[in-house]
Amino acid sequence: MRSRERLVIPFRSKVVEPISLLPREERQRRVEAAGFNLFRLASADVYIDLLTDSGTGAISVYQLGRSMMGDESYAGSRSFEEMRRQVQETMGFPFTIPVHQGRAAEQVLNYVMIRRNSFVPGNAHFDTTKAHIEIAEGRAIDCTIDAGRTSEGNYPFKGNIAVSKLERVIERYGARHIAYILLTITCNSGGGQPVSMQNIRDVRALASAHGLPLVFDAARFAENAYFIKEREPGYKDKSIPEIVHEMFSYADACTMSAKKDAIVPMGGFIGCRDPELYERLKTPAILFEGFFTYGGMSGADMEMLAQGLREVTDVTYLAYRIGQVRRFGELLQSFGVPIVEPVGGHAVFIDARKFFPNVPEDEFPAQLLCAELYREGGVRCVEVGSCLVGRDPDSGENIRPPLDLCRLTIPRRVYTFEHLEYVADVIRTVLEERGTKLKRGLCFDHEAEGIRHFSSTFRYL
Ligand code: F0G
Repeated sequence: MRSRERLVIPFRSKVVEPISLLPREERQRRVEAAGFNLFRLASADVYIDLLTDSGTGAISVYQLGRSMMGDESYAGSRSFEEMRRQVQETMGFPFTIPVHQGRAAEQVLNYVMIRRNSFVPGNAHFDTTKAHIEIAEGRAIDCTIDAGRTSEGNYPFKGNIAVSKLERVIERYGARHIAYILLTITCNSGGGQPVSMQNIRDVRALASAHGLPLVFDAARFAENAYFIKEREPGYKDKSIPEIVHEMFSYADACTMSAKKDAIVPMGGFIGCRDPELYERLKTPAILFEGFFTYGGMSGADMEMLAQGLREVTDVTYLAYRIGQVRRFGELLQSFGVPIVEPVGGHAVFIDARKFFPNVPEDEFPAQLLCAELYREGGVRCVEVGSCLVGRDPDSGENIRPPLDLCRLTIPRRVYTFEHLEYVADVIRTVLEERGTKLKRGLCFDHEAEGIRHFSSTFRYL
């Protein structure tokens, strides 16, 4: 059923970037040369780029203007103070450590918070998050609710943590072996699904009962707040800034990839409340990122980030953003494309095992679908499934994820709905022409070590 709400688009284009579509034979040649891994394509090979929403958003005239105000002083710049003040205003954290992007925040925070063999339970940790926990010799434990592990069912908050699972983890390992609890809002690996305020509250209560810190991976915090406003009883009449404030009031700290919900090409930060934690974060921040008032960001970047935090919490922007992604999902559904329901905040995820029902599950159907969409229409998307989850660090076995997904990630303020209609048509063609016909998938040609989905290559079976 298509939504009937009227979408108000709160911007118009002033500068455009030309893009073009390569001929079919050329696309075929390039995807083969890339080993069927679209990370290995040049951006000029791609027509519509739905690889990620990270750092790919369009900045506003206000952000561009503010970037001219960047104070590039090494220490204590005015731009740092501007960013710190805005983080405090938006999220309520008095302390901010700038870093160059989200994973750098993870590195710095885990350096301080993880002791050997400690655990970090959470809701489907993002891959860099999980890897950073493991590099610090900790272990990530996924406690997502069971409803978040299937592509069906319209449960409104599929990003929620199952509090009972969390309790069992704490009981089993003992609170002193838990480094912190991590809530990823919205939950990217689970399909861009939100976490409810009630769940945040429940997790906070459990954390407090055991004296544990609660940390947010806040990359898409504003999109999460919009879902709470839309779906959770009691929040319809609250403003987005109010909802954001309440969400963060339950957290001790956050890591932030500003490339998402601060709509900047590069940047991130750690926000925290505890002055002692702030002091302890300074040394690794200096060692890994730069002095603790710039941490890998330029003054211009920090100005744009501060402005981006203001723009992203505008309810008209969020209604357009979430509405565009949802409409795209509904269009795909009207063609019979199996997608994760309900549609998440930043992307539409195709259930590739259902899209290619005859391709064996261990032959990377989602990776195959990504390659097919590029071949068919020059569209680049990304596998979030068997290749990405990798191997179990203890047993070395391939982990079999509950879903093998192809993620069509929508950059912020970049593509019109006509671009997305083109993509939908490409997907429809692949579904109709090859969906049930394809019987074999891909296997590794070269399996990269560690995080393998960026550089591994594949071949047809
Ligand atoms: N946390 C989440 C939930 C993310 O989605 C990402 C990045 C990170 C942390 C790491 O942030 O890229 O700034 O270092 N996600 C991107 C994506 C890469 O395409 O989903 P980063």
